[in-house]
Amino acid sequence: MKDICVVGTGYVGLVTGACFADLGNDVVCLDIDENKIERLSTGQMPIYEPGLEEVVRRNVAAGRLSFTTSYEEAIKTNQPHFLFIAVGTPEGVDGEADLKYVRMAAESIAEVMDHPLIIVNKSTVPVGTGDWVADIINRHRNGDVGFAVVSNPEFLREGSAINDFLYPDRIVLGSLKRDAAESVAQLYLSLRAPIIVTDLRTAEMIKYASNAYLANRISFINEIAAICEQLGADVKEVAVGMGYDKRIGHHFLDAGLGYGGSCFPKDVKALAHMASIHGRHPQLLRAVMEINKDQRLRVIQKLRNQLGKLQDRTIGLLGLAFKPNTDDLREAPSVEIAHLLQNEGAHVKGYDPVAMPLAERLIPGIELAKDAYDLARGCDAIVVVTEWNEFKHLDLAKVKALMRQPILLDGRNVYDAEQMKSLGFQYRGMGRGYPTAEE
Ligand SMILES: NC(=O)c1ccc[n+]([C@@H]2O[C@H](COP(=O)([O-])OP(=O)(O)OC[C@H]3O[C@@H](n4cnc5c(N)ncnc54)[C@H](O)[C@@H]3O)[C@@H](O)[C@H]2O)c1
Repeated sequence: MKDICVVGTGYVGLVTGACFADLGNDVVCLDIDENKIERLSTGQMPIYEPGLEEVVRRNVAAGRLSFTTSYEEAIKTNQPHFLFIAVGTPEGVDGEADLKYVRMAAESIAEVMDHPLIIVNKSTVPVGTGDWVADIINRHRNGDVGFAVVSNPEFLREGSAINDFLYPDRIVLGSLKRDAAESVAQLYLSLRAPIIVTDLRTAEMIKYASNAYLANRISFINEIAAICEQLGADVKEVAVGMGYDKRIGHHFLDAGLGYGGSCFPKDVKALAHMASIHGRHPQLLRAVMEINKDQRLRVIQKLRNQLGKLQDRTIGLLGLAFKPNTDDLREAPSVEIAHLLQNEGAHVKGYDPVAMPLAERLIPGIELAKDAYDLARGCDAIVVVTEWNEFKHLDLAKVKALMRQPILLDGRNVYDAEQMKSLGFQYRGMGRGYPTAEE
């Protein structure tokens, strides 16, 4: 007998399962990916997420966490009270959220469901999906086994997922059955976070509106950065000055290469798609997406300004993951920038502390370096793509000595412009206040 079954053992599902087990629940995690479950069953992590391995090990050893590929075993044998759906909802062909994994999961659950279940949807899904899942379960279940559907969108961030799960800003629960939402709330009580109980569709919208707002802040500051560059202001200091205003705050005002990853790009697109098919023109969301796309192109333009033609130039990408502390390359700026450079005939080198195995597959032709210094060797320019902490402590004089030309384009505004210039770099940041003539 288990308390919780988590369906989908990816970044969200594995963290959810491991953390619920750590809170004292008996949890079974289910995935259709046999390789993933086999690795987890032998103590290997299928993803890089700081602190996760320890939490998983501790709870497997305590007998509170197990893994399976069988819906029969997960539901019939373990008889969980709650079932969390945490499968992927990738981008579909027209920008919509592709719900095929949610549909497959709902059908599989319904086919083996033999006792009342509270089905909690953690995946990011379009408004109305909770009703649709209830309909699928109704159509596929045996007899009239009772169930309720609750929406519980997840807000954790890769790279700090354990901490985000255990110390959330808020828990959102939506259901047409308030008692079901309140039962799920009990699971979270020990976290002492604000809990918002609302209806299904509102909960689903809170997730999209939150991600779209954060993406909007990133595109906003990137637009300001582009204007700063023309006018000779420094966007880093502009953001600091803005952030002290309590109505604005400091978060999500880092100019750079734009947002990436497995959530913001697809979620903004999916929200715009939802709006469009319901007759609304999502003007702001479209601008947010356009500005984001431009960030990648601006890198190429800046390199052209400094190097002229990019044909046969060697460009090093320092950092490949979409952000530090993860191995996730989904929609990472590095992938698009590498392809744009390769299209111009440049030779692309790359280095990342953890994301290299995946990079080899996503960026054919990239030359992977052993470390940041190996990356620098023979480069005509380096682009800082991911702001890993270790890059902040490099021996930059050594980096410069190894390069063919000392051109450093700091896509994350990690380094101090004056210091870089005094080291002899031709340093450019994003929106860092260089006179137009120099750019
Ligand atoms: N990654 C994040 O930072 C994050 C944060 C908040 C919300 N989300 C949302 O959470 C959801 C999951 O994201 P993720 O990044 O964990 O995805 P992921 O791709 O890492 O994991 C999804 C897992 O679901 C499994 N799966 C697919 N179909 C299945 C099925 N029918 N039965 C059982 N398992 C199945 C896959 O094999 C995979 O292991 C998405 O909707 C995403 O938008 C993600």
